Amino acid sequence: MNSRSDEILRFPSLTLRRFATEVFRRSGVEDYDAEQAADVLCTADEWGIRSHGLARLRSYHDMFVNNRINAKAHPRIIKDRPSLMLVDGDNGLGLAVGAFATRLAIERAKLMGTAWVSVVNSNHFGIAGYYAMQGLADDLIGVAMTNTPALVAPTGGVGRRLGTNPLAAAFPTAYEPRILIDMATSAISLGSVENARREGTQLPTLSIVNSKGEPSTDPKDLFEGGALLPLGGVRNSGGHKGYCLAALVDLLCGAFPGAAWGPFVPPFLVDAVDSERVVGQGVGHLFGFISIGAFEDPAVVRLRMDDWIQTMRASQTAEGYDQVMIPGDPELHASADSAEHGVPLELSVHNELLALSEKLGIVYG
Ligand SMILES: NC(=O)c1ccc[n+]([C@@H]2O[C@H](COP(=O)([O-])OP(=O)(O)OC[C@H]3O[C@@H](n4cnc5c(N)ncnc54)[C@H](O)[C@@H]3O)[C@@H](O)[C@H]2O)c1
Repeated sequence: MNSRSDEILRFPSLTLRRFATEVFRRSGVEDYDAEQAADVLCTADEWGIRSHGLARLRSYHDMFVNNRINAKAHPRIIKDRPSLMLVDGDNGLGLAVGAFATRLAIERAKLMGTAWVSVVNSNHFGIAGYYAMQGLADDLIGVAMTNTPALVAPTGGVGRRLGTNPLAAAFPTAYEPRILIDMATSAISLGSVENARREGTQLPTLSIVNSKGEPSTDPKDLFEGGALLPLGGVRNSGGHKGYCLAALVDLLCGAFPGAAWGPFVPPFLVDAVDSERVVGQGVGHLFGFISIGAFEDPAVVRLRMDDWIQTMRASQTAEGYDQVMIPGDPELHASADSAEHGVPLELSVHNELLALSEKLGIVYG
C-alpha cells in the first residue's frame, strides 16, 4: 500500500479481491459466489466508480448479518423458453445472482443468436456494465439493467417513485477498445449529493427537487423529503426522457417479470423501513446478449464498430474540450491508472474496511 494524498490510498488489486472474497465467505457465501461478488465490487473501484465498489462491502455484510439477504441462495430457472428465461434469485446476493443469470444468457445466446434472462427476487447487483461486458469475447453485444430502491421523482411529481435504475450495453470491436455504455437514469447519483452535503457545496441545477417538488441546488433538500430528478432534469430541459428511460428499466426489470417495482423495490439499508405495500418479489434485473455474427461475419461487424468509434473521435472539439471520448473511455483510463498505481480507495472507505477486518479477524492490506 502507498499513500499518494491524504484522501486516497492505493492498493494492489489482488489484496482487495482477497479481502472482499473473505468477507463474503465469512458472511456465509459459498466460495465461487464469494469470489464472483468480490470481482464485481473490485472492478467498480478499478473503473473509478467508487460509489459502487468496496465502499459498499460493509452494507452487504450488514445485510447478511440482519438476514435481509440469503447467503446460501441457489438461484434457479423457473421459466424456460428458447431464448428467454426467468430466474428466481432466491433472495441471494445480487452480485452473484447477476453473474449466474449472465452466464445462462451468454450460453443460450451462443446457441440461439440472442437470449434474455429476467431475474426476480434478487438484490443490489452493483455496476451494470460488468455484466454487459461478459459476452465480448464470444462476439456478443451485452445489455444489463436493474431496478433499484426509489430515489427519483417522475416528471412533474413530488416524492420518490423510481430508482436510479442503471442501464448498460457493451459492444465488441476489432482494434479499438470495446464500447461500454453504463449509466444511471437519474440526473445525478445519490453519492454526489452526499459528497456535496459533506463538503458544503451546491449541486448542479436541475439535479434534485425539494419536498414540494421544486428544483433545488441545496443537497440537504434531498434528505428532507426531496428526490433526485431524472436524467435531463425537468420537463423543458428534457427530463421527461430520463423519466421514460427509468420507466423502461423498471417495467422490464420489475413489472414485466414480477419483481418489485417503483416505490416498492426493497431498500439496500438494514435500518430502512420497507414500503407498506408489498408488490412483486425483490429487486429485478434483465440481461440480454445478441450475437454480432447473426447476420454476417463477426469480424466485419467488429471493424464497423471501429469505424464508428474513429468517426466520433474525429469530431472537431468544441470550446473547453480537448477531445471527444467514446462511452467506456473513462473506465478504461481508470483501469489503466489502477493497474499502474494501485486501486484507489478513499481514506474513509479504507478505515471502514479496517474496522470490518478487525471485527471478522481477516487480514487486510
Ligand atoms: N446497482 C445500482 O443500484 C446502481 C444504481 C445507479 C448506478 N449504478 C452504477 O453506477 C455506475 C456509475 O453510473 P453513472 O450514471 O454515475 O455513470 P457516469 O455518469 O460516470 O458515466 C455514464 C456513461 O457515460 C460514459 N462517459 C462519461 N463521460 C463521457 C464522455 N465525456 N464522453 C463519452 N462517454 C462518457 C461512461 O463511460 C459511462 O458509460 C454505473 O456502473 C452504474 O451501473 C448502479
